Amino acid sequence: MNLSTLAANAPKAELHLHIEGSFEPELMFEMARRNGVKLPFASVEEIRAAYDFSNLQEFLDIYYQGMSVLLCEQDFYDLTWAYLTHAAADHVIHTEIFFDPQGHTERGVEFADVIGGISRALGDAKDQLGISSKLIMCFLRHLPEEDALATWNAAQPFLSMIDGVGLDSSEVGHPPSKFKKVFAKAKAAGLQLVAHAGEEGPPEYVWEALNELQVDRIDHGNRSLEDDKLVAHLAKASMCLTVCPLSNLKLCVVDDMREHPIRNMLESGLLAMINSDDPSYFGGYVNANYAAVIEALDLNRSEVETLLRNSFIGAFMDDAAKAQALSKLDAYLSGV
Ligand code: HPA
Ligand code: ZN
Repeated sequence: MNLSTLAANAPKAELHLHIEGSFEPELMFEMARRNGVKLPFASVEEIRAAYDFSNLQEFLDIYYQGMSVLLCEQDFYDLTWAYLTHAAADHVIHTEIFFDPQGHTERGVEFADVIGGISRALGDAKDQLGISSKLIMCFLRHLPEEDALATWNAAQPFLSMIDGVGLDSSEVGHPPSKFKKVFAKAKAAGLQLVAHAGEEGPPEYVWEALNELQVDRIDHGNRSLEDDKLVAHLAKASMCLTVCPLSNLKLCVVDDMREHPIRNMLESGLLAMINSDDPSYFGGYVNANYAAVIEALDLNRSEVETLLRNSFIGAFMDDAAKAQALSKLDAYLSGV
């Protein structure tokens, strides 16, 4: 069997997915119309044509513009449900979703409506699609830590719906250490911790995420490969890296998919796995990301199996759920 097909049909987990980055232009237009919001684009085609980025910031500018049509609880439900139906089609059986509350509350949207709509869709996905999930609240790192602390306070009534906190948005100039206080509070509350690091930022930012924030996972982490000591440390700690190949290509973190570092990561003993990041903006959901690296790098079967297994090993599932998911994957792999 062709390895892209093998990967496509395999049960898998996705651990790096910004729900606002799954907003397809068709749904964006429909929501803009029903909410009476004007988008600065005349058509779906015009929006898609604007998805041509030369760095992270160019993407973020359009990403924040897109999310401006999300206003009420039902909007967040519809956005999340649309992603979950794509995930189900890609045989995702467990997903860990990021959301950016500050991108909404600063526009006057209620925190309760944001988290309420997302959580209701995640509950329905468990019942109707058999997809389990975790929810990770991200802080926007281009804003001051005081804003992150205010968001942490606003989240207190909803902590039972939140499994972890993360750090996203413009990386360079906003090191992880800027968010030490708010991450310490989240850790004290028993939440899981993740941070985007080493996407555009240097290896020092990955060290800071580990040492100053005490993260449980690194999102992206590509530039870790520039520091041999860091690679050895990440490998020894079995620290999961949530890697996003099509995102890396679209944001010019790699110039060509044939130069993508995923094989180097595996050969260095890193616990890397594959994700879609912002699938609507970067040209595909998780299976398209597997296919892109399998084809460009001619990955072998053992490498593909490792990536699939790592998707569950790096997840924040409890031990029993993780063991069950891994045996489901092993059963699939032994039959193909
Ligand atoms: N990097 C940083 N911030 C983000 C991203 C990303 O890839 N996607 C959405 N916010
Ligand atoms: Zn991301």
